[in-house]
Amino acid sequence: MDNKTLLDKLNSLSIEEKIGQLIQLTGDFFEGDMDTVVTGPLKKLGLSSSYNVYNTGSILNITNPEKIIRLQTDYLEKSVHKIPLLFMADIIYGYRTIFPIPIAQACSWNYEGIEHAASVAARECYEEGVHVTFSPMVDIVRDPRWGRVMESPGEDTLLAKKYAQSVVLGIQGRNLESTAVPANKIAACVKHFAAYGAPVAGREYNAVDMSEHALREYYLPGYQAAIEAGAKLVMTAFNTLNGIPATGNEWLNRDVLRQEMNFDGVLISDYAAIEELIMHGYAEDEASAARLALLAGVDVDMKTAIYANQLKNVISGNDHMLELLNEAVYRVLKLKNDLGLFEDPFRGLQEIVKLSTSSILSDEHKKAALSLAEESVVLLKNENVLLPLSKDTKVALMGPYAEENSTLGMWAIKGEETDTVNLKTGLLKHVDSAHLTVCRGAYMMPVHARENLGKYADKLAAETIDEEVLLQQAIQNANEADVIVLALGESIYQSGEGGSRTNLTLPEPQLKLLHELSLLGKKIVLIVYSGRPLILTDVAEKVDAIVQAWYPGTMGGEALANVLYGEVNPSGKLAMTFPRSVGQIPVYYNELNTGRPNLKENGSYRFASRYIDEVNEPLYPFGYGKSFTSFEYSLLAVSPKKMKTNESVDIRISVSNTGTYDGKETIQLYIRDKFASVARPVKELKDFKKVFLQSGETKIVEFSIDEDMLKFHGRGMEYKSEPGEFEVYIGSSSQEILLSFSFIFLPEDKHE
Ligand code: GLC
Repeated sequence: MDNKTLLDKLNSLSIEEKIGQLIQLTGDFFEGDMDTVVTGPLKKLGLSSSYNVYNTGSILNITNPEKIIRLQTDYLEKSVHKIPLLFMADIIYGYRTIFPIPIAQACSWNYEGIEHAASVAARECYEEGVHVTFSPMVDIVRDPRWGRVMESPGEDTLLAKKYAQSVVLGIQGRNLESTAVPANKIAACVKHFAAYGAPVAGREYNAVDMSEHALREYYLPGYQAAIEAGAKLVMTAFNTLNGIPATGNEWLNRDVLRQEMNFDGVLISDYAAIEELIMHGYAEDEASAARLALLAGVDVDMKTAIYANQLKNVISGNDHMLELLNEAVYRVLKLKNDLGLFEDPFRGLQEIVKLSTSSILSDEHKKAALSLAEESVVLLKNENVLLPLSKDTKVALMGPYAEENSTLGMWAIKGEETDTVNLKTGLLKHVDSAHLTVCRGAYMMPVHARENLGKYADKLAAETIDEEVLLQQAIQNANEADVIVLALGESIYQSGEGGSRTNLTLPEPQLKLLHELSLLGKKIVLIVYSGRPLILTDVAEKVDAIVQAWYPGTMGGEALANVLYGEVNPSGKLAMTFPRSVGQIPVYYNELNTGRPNLKENGSYRFASRYIDEVNEPLYPFGYGKSFTSFEYSLLAVSPKKMKTNESVDIRISVSNTGTYDGKETIQLYIRDKFASVARPVKELKDFKKVFLQSGETKIVEFSIDEDMLKFHGRGMEYKSEPGEFEVYIGSSSQEILLSFSFIFLPEDKHE
C-alpha cells in the first residue's frame, strides 16, 4: 500500500478504532463467542465490556499456523476496516530448531553463524505465520546474579553491537534499501530499552541507576546497532532508569531513542509495563499511566487494559495527544504495510500450510544449530590434556545432565525437548555402550529448593531414587571407568526471567557428588550447563577438565560429544567474566584503573583498590577459552606510530598453530586510552579476528585502528576522540596479552 493510502486508512478510523490498533492481547480473547470473551478474558484483564476485540492491532504468542489462519480470517470477517492482525512472539534463539542460548552464541565470536541462526529462526517463524519476534535482546550484563544473562550478549559493548546487528539482519534480511520485509523474513524487535541488564543487586525488575556517561558509553550502543540494522520495533524495559520507569520515560524514548537514535519504528511496552507505572509509583492511576506512556512514545500496550480503557478520555479535547495517537497508529499501520499484510494478511501461510515441505527442524537447520553449538562451548580447563578423550577410554557419564533433554533454556517457547540430542545420545554417536556407563548420580537441586521455582518446579524431572542409592551407583560406575564425565549445572528454571540467584555455586546435591568422586583418584571432566557464569572456584580444583556448555540447544549433546572426542576443537571465548566469588560482583574486564590500582608489586599493601579476603581477578576472564592446540603470535609491523586525523594504525601480526590439532583462534585487540577528559577503562575490546589454522600453519592477521575506535563520551556526553597516547594489547583473552605496543594519536590540527 502506498503511503497516501495508508494515511487515508488512518484518517478513516474512529478514535476507538485507532486506539484498538495499539492494543496487544493474547489469543484467548478471540476464542469462543462474544459473551464468553466478555465475561472471561475481557473481564479478567479489566477491559471495558464495550471494548471491541475486532479493533485489536496485534496478538501475543500465538504460533500455530492453522490457529493463526483461523484467527486472522475470523478477525477480517468481523472487523470494520479489515486491518490485519499482527502476530508477535518470543522466538529468541530458535523456533523449533533451538540454537544455543544467546550468551553461549556470544562465546562463539562467530557473527556470521549468529546471523545464520537468526535467519533459520525467522524462516521457521515465517512458515508458521509469526510476523514479529521479540529478539534480539541486547541488554549488557555485568552481574551473573541476574537470571536473564542467559539471553544477553554478555558484558561487552562491541560484542553487543555485533550481536544486535547480526540478529536483526538474520531476522529481517540485509536489504536496508527497502522497508519491505521479504518472504522468509519477519520483523525484529530489539529489547529492553534500556539498560534492563543492570538492576541493583542483580535482582529481577529492580531499579537501574547509572550515570548518563555509563548509559551512553556501554549500554546504549547495542540498541543503536540494532536500529541501524533496521530493527522495526523496540521494546521498553520494566526497570526505572535513574528514577523514571523506562516505559514512561520521555527523555529516554523520545529524546534519545526517536531523536538521537533516529528510530521511527514501533515502540511496544514490555508485558503489562504500562500498568506497572502505577506500581512504580510514577503514575497516580490508570488514566495517568495511559497519558505518561503515550507522552513517552509507547505505541503498543502489551496485555493491559490501560490504553483501551483510558486513551479516549486522555485524548479528548487535547490536540497534542490526538497527534501523538495518530503518530503511534501510523507506525503500527506502517509496520503492517512493511510486512505486506494489506496485500496478503497471511503472508503466504495458507499456501505454505498446504505444502508438505517445511524447513522446520530440517537437516540443514539442525546442522546450523550443531555447528554454532560446537563453537559456543568454552573449554575452561584441560589439565594434562585430558581432553579429547580417546574412543577406547571407558567413560562413566553421570550427573543430572547426563541424559537430560531440558537443555533449551527458558526462552525456547516452541522448542521440544523430544527433539533434543542429550549428552548420552551424543556420546553414543562416538562410542558403544561397552565404553560408556550412565547414571544420574545426584538430584538436580535440593528437594526443598524446588519450591522456590513456583509453578516451574513441576517441570523439573522427578527425583524418584534415593540420593544415597544414586551416589553409590555413581561411585561404582566411576570405579569401573577410566574417566568420569560429570554433567552438572543449574536447572533451566533457575535461570531466565525471574531467575535471579544470590548463591551461584552448583546445586548442593551436585557438589556432594563431585566431592565424593574427587576422592576416588579418577580423572574427571566437568561439563557445566548453566544460563550464567556460575562460581566454579572450589570445583575447579577438584576436576581435571571443565567444559562450559551453557544451554546448547537442540543439538547440544552432539556438539559436546564432538568436542569431548576431538572431532571438534573447542574455540569458544567467554563473553562474560566468571567471578571467583559472588562478593566480587560486578567484576568485568573493562574496569577503570582507580587512583590506587592493586598492583602485584604492592603485595598485600592495604591502601589499594582491593579486598582483604579475595583477589581482584576473576576465575576466568572475559575473552578466555582454551583449545586442544596452542597458538603463538608475533608482531610484524605497526605503522604509523603517530596517527593523524583520517589515518589509521595498520597492524600486521603472524599467528601460528604450534600444537597438534587444527583449530580456530579468536585474536582479540584491546586498546587503552592512557589519559583523557574522563577516566578511561584499563582496556576495551575494539576488534577481533577468528581464524582457522591447521596444525603447524601460520597466517598473517591484520588489524586497523581508526579514529572511530578511539571515540568515547566526554564530560558533556559529546562522542569524540582526543589526542594522546594509546596502548594496544593483542591477545587470546582480556588477560592473556601476547603482544603490546603504543601509538600516539595526534589530529591534524594538533600538529605543532
Ligand atoms: C516478558 C519479557 C519480554 C518478552 C515479553 C513478552 O516479560 O520481559 O522479554 O518479550 O514479556 O512475552
